[in-house]
Amino acid sequence: MQVIAITGGKGGVGKTNIAVNLAVSMSMEGLDVMLFDADLGLANVDVVLGMKPKYTLADVVSGDKTLADVVVDGPEGVRVIPAASGVAQMVEMQSGEQETLIRQLSDQLIPPDVLIVDTGAGIDQTVQTFVAACQSAVLVVCDEPASLTDAYALMKVLRAKKDIRRFEILANQVDNPLQGKQLFERIGNVCDRYLDVELGYLGGVPTDMYLRRAVQERRALVSAYPRSPAAIAILDAGRRLNQAHLDDHLTVWHGWNFYCNSVQQRVACCLWVLALIDVDGDCKLIVIACDKLCALFSWNRRIARDYHTHHLASCCNAQR
Ligand SMILES: Nc1ncnc2c1ncn2[C@@H]1O[C@H](COP(=O)(O)OP(=O)(O)O)[C@@H](O)[C@H]1O
Ligand SMILES: [Mg+2]
Repeated sequence: MQVIAITGGKGGVGKTNIAVNLAVSMSMEGLDVMLFDADLGLANVDVVLGMKPKYTLADVVSGDKTLADVVVDGPEGVRVIPAASGVAQMVEMQSGEQETLIRQLSDQLIPPDVLIVDTGAGIDQTVQTFVAACQSAVLVVCDEPASLTDAYALMKVLRAKKDIRRFEILANQVDNPLQGKQLFERIGNVCDRYLDVELGYLGGVPTDMYLRRAVQERRALVSAYPRSPAAIAILDAGRRLNQAHLDDHLTVWHGWNFYCNSVQQRVACCLWVLALIDVDGDCKLIVIACDKLCALFSWNRRIARDYHTHHLASCCNAQR
């Protein structure tokens, strides 16, 4: 499972729209996707998608509902966990309570292939807790001084407080691809000088009036206007994220917090250890074990395929 935080520091840069459309585009590509609204103060994933959820995370926090009760079906089969707007109890949650909420996610819900977490603006404890619980941190930035300084401040605090060392940069509202690339290089130059972090570039999403139109119509851009320039760019970014997940799986250990309690992840960890100590290096036994476990836990074929073709193959290659 891939857990991706969409963050960026500054408000209004496009985090929620990127999160929503990444989720819908990945779902259109055949993945099982869940979208978690972690903007606990000013939730608006449901607003962007034109949904009117009966229950929200506030009902989970008050103890009236379980997480499974608040999940709603969104467009293209995306499962959405809506948050509440303007509920004091949510804004005042302590980091311990937020961590409990995150743990409930792994205990109460069937894990999707991809979980996308839309964070609120700012660099406060809530944003830090949610980003630290994810495997990848996508920073949405615009070519404006305030967006760049906020993104830098967020990386600095996440590096210092949560030991996060890699960020994926997505340049939003750019006029052309070169502007996005230059923006990424500018951030990279500053980080090289002052921060010990690694950056990846997910691409540039153009300023697109179709995105604004989709927002007005409260529909997801990628399904309402799939051929619009921003939709195509978001689809590309989703594919890159997915590929990066497959390529970097071995090295992304810090992000196992979210689902480390689930049986599936524990079993996956055991398989990894077995693969690494496999003396013959042919992984035959592990492939058989994978087959049995996939059948036992009803893992979907994509997870099985990932283990067989990618993870285990890279283990075997590393040993040879
Ligand atoms: N690529 C884009 N093209 C055109 N408008 C955009 C684009 N990205 C964001 N916007 C505008 O910015 C507004 C704020 O976006 P939103 O996703 O709510 O930001 P955030 O979640 O970062 O606060 C959107 O309602 C939309 O009008
Ligand atoms: Mg938002």
